[in-house]
Amino acid sequence: MTVNGVPVVAIDGPTGSGKGAISRSLAVSLDWHLLDSGALYRSVALKVNREGLALSEPAALAAAASRTRVEFSAAAEPEAILLHGDNVTALLRTEECGAMASRIAAIPEVRKALWKRQRAFARPPGLVADGRDMGTVVFPEAELKVYLTASPEERARRRHKQLIQKGIDVSLPDLSEDIARRDERDANRVVAPLKPAEDARVLDSTGLTPEEVVARIRVWLRESGLLSN
Ligand code: DC
Repeated sequence: MTVNGVPVVAIDGPTGSGKGAISRSLAVSLDWHLLDSGALYRSVALKVNREGLALSEPAALAAAASRTRVEFSAAAEPEAILLHGDNVTALLRTEECGAMASRIAAIPEVRKALWKRQRAFARPPGLVADGRDMGTVVFPEAELKVYLTASPEERARRRHKQLIQKGIDVSLPDLSEDIARRDERDANRVVAPLKPAEDARVLDSTGLTPEEVVARIRVWLRESGLLSN
């Protein structure tokens, strides 16, 4: 089934599974839109932090989530993320922001406030939706659902490499611990926990190159009739 007539591919998975890079590369190769839902949660986390809101106030957090104005500017390379017009791309990618996002993402009121906004990303000719609950909650009717994962060691190594390349200094053992904590919180929260949708295809990318992963997903797209070549 399409989402309002628009084909959607949901790509879910834990931190470091490579879903960000894979989703982007797939969206570019298909010339489809991209929803980086983690960036939405990270933007809300940053706003909550800047406004000094307490995590114990779900109504205030949900109101902040509704007020958060995020723009994805494809004009910059790599793509820039603007929060109320301010370029926050680098700030959003820090581990602190990811951990904070994971905390506010466990609050049902915040998830509810972002649900409709995420659905609005489904526009022609198609959408690649990257997140934790794209296939289970936000786009349950998506034609293709992929649950991308990799071994914990490989995920920590990939994330470490990414951060070092961005000039962010972090130790591998600290990062492994942080990832384990985030996995635990994301998978065990009451609302929209991280788990494969029942009809998701699970893809373990350990030992695969990004190109091999994209190629595999393109085969599934063809099988689902979403891609003709
Ligand atoms: O994908 P990411 O690392 O940018 O996501 C940051 C956090 O946001 C992640 O730890 C959990 C939360 N998140 C979520 O709960 N649901 C989503 N669809 C996307 C992200």
